[in-house]
Amino acid sequence: MSDYASDTLNDLTPEPTGARRVVVLISGNGSNLQALIDEQTHDRLGGEIVAVISNVADAYGLQRARDAGIDAVVLPHGEYDTREAYDGALIKVIERHEPDLVVLAGFMRILSSRFVQRFHGRMLNIHPSLLPAYRGLNTHAKALADGVAEHGCSVHFVTEELDGGPVAIQAVVNVSGDETETSLKEKVHTREHLIYPIAVKWFLEGRLRLVGETAVLDGTPLPPHGLRLSHADAAEELDEDLDDA
Ligand code: GRF
Repeated sequence: MSDYASDTLNDLTPEPTGARRVVVLISGNGSNLQALIDEQTHDRLGGEIVAVISNVADAYGLQRARDAGIDAVVLPHGEYDTREAYDGALIKVIERHEPDLVVLAGFMRILSSRFVQRFHGRMLNIHPSLLPAYRGLNTHAKALADGVAEHGCSVHFVTEELDGGPVAIQAVVNVSGDETETSLKEKVHTREHLIYPIAVKWFLEGRLRLVGETAVLDGTPLPPHGLRLSHADAAEELDEDLDDA
């Protein structure tokens, strides 16, 4: 009886074998993918990107993957009649790579609920705003139109609510008086490239988890906006001149 119990327990808690596996989904440039690849190259990601999948055949991120020796897969959505059919095919391709974590890095598709549920608790996204502000598209233009003093980006677990899942980490940028959409986007991108690798590493090391509706770091529930890096904190990390803010 006790043997049976301990065998059962062992089945439930397999020893970790090998590096944690990451599949990254992209649709375009892939600068966030590049930030992750760079960390991996320096052995700082806490796992291995085993495949990059794009729904767009000429996404530049695919080239970044190939240059890094990572399997680059194209799965064009135009070849499927429905979102459900596409997402079903995508699930199959992803699962072939047996990922511990699915990373959305500029993957410009609305996800079906089946897809979201399949990777529940092990799928992250990066969004260019300080969530919950400015969900959806054109976040920089909206922030400028509102005249906000602070903008930024957030890494969050993916749930069925668009850009609404629990946030793990976000980074703030100060919006300057002469800011344009282009300059703001550029500033936010530098923060994205800083925080996405951090969140991925936390997850792969088992430090970051989704518990119910809450992102938990090192056993401590995070506030709704996650761990927040101020403009100054991020600038210091990035060796930026604070006067340029
Ligand atoms: C980023 O701004 C990210 O926040 C959003 O899509 C964009 C992807 O950029 N989800 P890149 O392809 O990583 O350069």
